[in-house]
Parts: sequence; C-alpha cells; structure tokens
Amino acid sequence: MKLTVLGATGSVGASTLDVVRRHPDRYQVVALTGNTRIDVLEQQCREHRPQYAVVGDAGSALELRRRFASQQIATEVLYGREALATVASLPEVDAVMAAIVGVAGLAPTLSAARAGKRILLANKEALVMAGPIFMDEVARGGGDLLPIDSEHNAVFQALPRCCAGSKPPGVRRILLTASGGPFLTRAACDLEAVTVEQAVAHPNWSMGKKISVDSATMMNKGLEVIEAHWLFGLPADAIDVVIHPQSVIHSMVEYVDGSILAQLGNPDMRIPIAHALAWPERIDSGVPALDLFKVAQLDFQAPDFHRFPCLALAYQALRAGGDRAAVLNAANEVAVDAFLQGKIRFLHISQIVESTLTKLEARSVSTLDEVFEVDASAHAVASAYVGSLLS
Ligand SMILES: NC(=O)c1ccc[n+]([C@@H]2O[C@H](COP(=O)([O-])OP(=O)(O)OC[C@H]3O[C@@H](n4cnc5c(N)ncnc54)[C@H](OP(=O)(O)O)[C@@H]3O)[C@@H](O)[C@H]2O)c1
Repeated sequence: MKLTVLGATGSVGASTLDVVRRHPDRYQVVALTGNTRIDVLEQQCREHRPQYAVVGDAGSALELRRRFASQQIATEVLYGREALATVASLPEVDAVMAAIVGVAGLAPTLSAARAGKRILLANKEALVMAGPIFMDEVARGGGDLLPIDSEHNAVFQALPRCCAGSKPPGVRRILLTASGGPFLTRAACDLEAVTVEQAVAHPNWSMGKKISVDSATMMNKGLEVIEAHWLFGLPADAIDVVIHPQSVIHSMVEYVDGSILAQLGNPDMRIPIAHALAWPERIDSGVPALDLFKVAQLDFQAPDFHRFPCLALAYQALRAGGDRAAVLNAANEVAVDAFLQGKIRFLHISQIVESTLTKLEARSVSTLDEVFEVDASAHAVASAYVGSLLS
C-alpha cells in the first residue's frame, strides 16, 4: 500500500511511521508533510525515502533542498497549501493519513476524499467544520473513511460493518469514553490558576499541545461528539460521554437488545493507526497487549458540564447545526493558541468560545468557501476578545 502522511512531523504522524517501519513489505511512503519542524522531516525522509516532502513555506523548502542535495536524497521538496492537496491526491497513492492539526488539514483531506483515497482521519476539525460537505465528498469519491481518533476507531470496531454516515441498525447509542484530562478532580475554583505545563500534561496519552489543552478543557470530547455524529449518522441524543479515568476502554456501542460492545487496549495511538492501515486485516502495531490484571479496575462517571463548559458548548453547537460547530472550532483554536502563548488564563478559553458563538449570528453553510468565511469571522471575533483581555 502506498501512503501519504499529512502532518508526518506531529505526534500522530510519528506514530504512523512507527507502524509503517514495522511492515516494510506492506507499506511504501510516497509523500511526507510537515510545516515548521524541518529537522524532523529531514530525518523521516532520510529513513523512508519518499518521492515528495512538503513544508510550510519557501524558506523551509530551500533549506530542506540544500540538506537533501548534500546527502544525495532524491526526495522532491514542495511547499504550501496547493502542494498539500497535490500529495493527498497523487494517482499512485492508495491511502492518506490526515494528521495535520486544525483548519489547515481541511483542504488536503478533502482533496484526498475527492480522489477516492482511503482516508485515515485523525484531523477531527475536517468533520467538525464541514461535516456534511466532507461526508458528501467521501461518498462521491468512493474511498474508505477510517477513523483514527481512538474513540471513533473503537466505535468503528464495535459497530456492524455498514456504510459511513448512516445510522447503523440496532444501535441505541454510542458511549464515547473520556479520561477527564489532567483536571478531572480539581475544584472549579482551582482551575483559574492552572499553567500551560499542567494543562498539556495528559495523565494517559502523549499528544500534540493543541489536543492536550483540548483534553484539559474537555473541548476535545465535545469535538469528538460532533465528529461521531457525522461519522456514524447518530443524533446528539444518541452520543453520550462517559468519564473513564483509566483510558483502557476506548469507547462503546450500546445495542437495542441491551448489549454493550467495547474496544479495549493500552492508550497508544499505534493501535487505531495499525487497525486503519490494515483494515479489514490486522497487523502488529508494536503496542504490548493489555495486562488486565494490572488494570484490575475500570471506573466510570458522568461528565461535569458545569466544570467543563466547553463540552456543553459543543453539544449545543451540534444541536443548533448550521455554522455553529465551525464557529466553536475556530474560536477554540484562537483561544487555545492564546493560552499556549501565555496570553490568557485557562478559564478564558470557554469564555472566548461562548462569547464568539453569541456575537456571531447563526447562518447556514453549504459550500467550503462559506465554511472558510465563517472560520475567518470567528477567528476575528475571538482574536478581538483575546485582545480585549490583554489591554
Ligand atoms: N495526538 C493524538 O494522540 C491524537 C489523537 C486523536 C486525534 N488527533 C488529531 O490528529 C491531528 C494531529 O494531532 P497531533 O497531536 O499529531 O498534532 P501535532 O503533534 O501538533 O502535529 C500537527 C502536525 O500538523 C502540521 N501542521 C501544523 N500546522 C500546519 C499548517 N498550517 N500547514 C501544514 N501542516 C501543519 C505540523 O507540522 P510541524 O510540526 O512541522 O509544524 C505537524 O506535522 C489533530 O487534528 C488532532 O486533533 C490526535
């Protein structure tokens, strides 16, 4: 199988290449993309020898070409948005790992969908911002869509095989598990002063910074509820969140006969990645088997929507439809970025998202251009709020 890895230099990208490395007879890397971390991309290209590497700008491309020339690496270096879309739709590529973080991942992932590639979808923002457009393109392109988010991959594994996006027969509801993040047991009043270091220190998973903060606010779970709605064709009322601090059950499907099917495993992204790469077969992911005796206990509790208002905001956005999820996502991107830069406090994140949703009047969106318009407006409104906090 020939692969493009979008976002190769990130956490999911690195885990993907780790699985690929274990199966040299099965997978061949055609293109790797990064944005700013060209040292990482250089090392990955040295190992996997792809035909193409894509970076964010002309300066990085020049530097990477210079390094490749001195090492006799034949990889062609491209840069920019168009290049991302190109390597996501190359005729010789069979599957595309969509692991660019944020809105930047939307266009290349759509390009892969249009070209009918097998999409290994880690970039949840594509579905959150443009769910119906994205699912339409996947259906038209005719490729497989396999979820990489561990929760959605678990649901996919626990569902009967059926078409993406349509309500699976016999399913009563989906139970998305959530670790609760690093602040699960903190009192609401103690959340005011938490630091960036504390927020990105996830108790069970090692991930990029943006998604780690999203886990701490539980916005990540909210985005996943929206993602599940589009992937599995279920309404908000049939998608519940269950706090499960051990992160051993990655999600569950409840059927009308009372059965609940769960997928369990160590919290390591190589499991869903290996599953999606090999589907419908199975391959070694490099992850040790789960030791049930060590786990010993599985705990569950209901989410606290009061302490984690981002989760409630995401449910509201899903129920309201139209542009609300795109506004939620854009405002959250701005807020998390400002938090990571030390400009705002942790509790400002939900305030910025809520205020942006209130300030921008709801509208319908049916084209990608409209999605990008909404994204730009929400970025502007949320950025202005950040600015007002600084002054
Ligand atoms: N990490 C996980 O365990 C996990 C689990 C489930 C889902 N996800 C989802 O998977 C996606 C990736 O997450 P991650 O944790 O791997 O993120 P990450 O470690 O921050 O990596 C993000 C990747 O995107 C690239 N990138 C960032 N901005 C870009 C831009 N403007 N143009 C092109 N490329 C850009 C980065 O390039 P540089 O690093 O070179 O700048 C990097 O390769 C996210 O949507 C996340 O929600 C992640």
